[in-house]
Amino acid sequence: MTITLTWLGHSGVHLKIGEHDVLIDPYLTGNPLAPIPADDLPADFILLSHGHDDHVCDAASIARRTGATIVANNEIAIWYRDTHGIESVHTLNTGGGVRLPFGRVELTIAHHSSALPDGSYGGQPNGILILTNEGKNIYHAGDTAVFCEMQFIGQRGIDLALLPIGDYYTMGIDGSLQAIDLIQPKAVIPIHYNTFDVIMQDAAYWAQRVANETDALPVVLDPGGKHTLS
Ligand code: NI
Ligand code: MN
Repeated sequence: MTITLTWLGHSGVHLKIGEHDVLIDPYLTGNPLAPIPADDLPADFILLSHGHDDHVCDAASIARRTGATIVANNEIAIWYRDTHGIESVHTLNTGGGVRLPFGRVELTIAHHSSALPDGSYGGQPNGILILTNEGKNIYHAGDTAVFCEMQFIGQRGIDLALLPIGDYYTMGIDGSLQAIDLIQPKAVIPIHYNTFDVIMQDAAYWAQRVANETDALPVVLDPGGKHTLS
């Protein structure tokens, strides 16, 4: 079965896994790189890495419109249930996972912070690991510094990693190269860059360094661009 990923700009991703529409960190409203409006996105599941507005911005409106299930840590998922009336949530926590129709979703550690848009405590920030039924494993690092336990994530066998390269709020290009060394993904897509002035990066330079210094295939997408795993 084919898995098609569409980059929504920033850390936002749409995955079409079989017949399932899976979103990660939807941030379209107010995102200068947004390729389509949030109202046009299909969703069965919305996976959230942490509570910052540039990751959860459109989760409530999309969940309300589509009936999608929100999958996040305990604090974030309960906040959506209690303050936004989103009935269908999974309240995971770091290291735990849940079996969903397209595969297993686990929350990994991430080194960052996490407050919700209204200032509520958002729990610990996470990365997201998707172990699809087809045997393809996708790791979305969320917002994070590089950390040496990334090697344990790599031991799961990562087909595709999505890593922030923007610097300032997360690891930058040098950190992402260390992360690739630890994870050893087959392919890697850069995220969380060029959205704001402070996270401008040269993706072509990043891709050249990945090609020269690692065994991973760099895949640079434009917002709205697609990558297929098969
Ligand atoms: Ni953040
Ligand atoms: Mn962010």
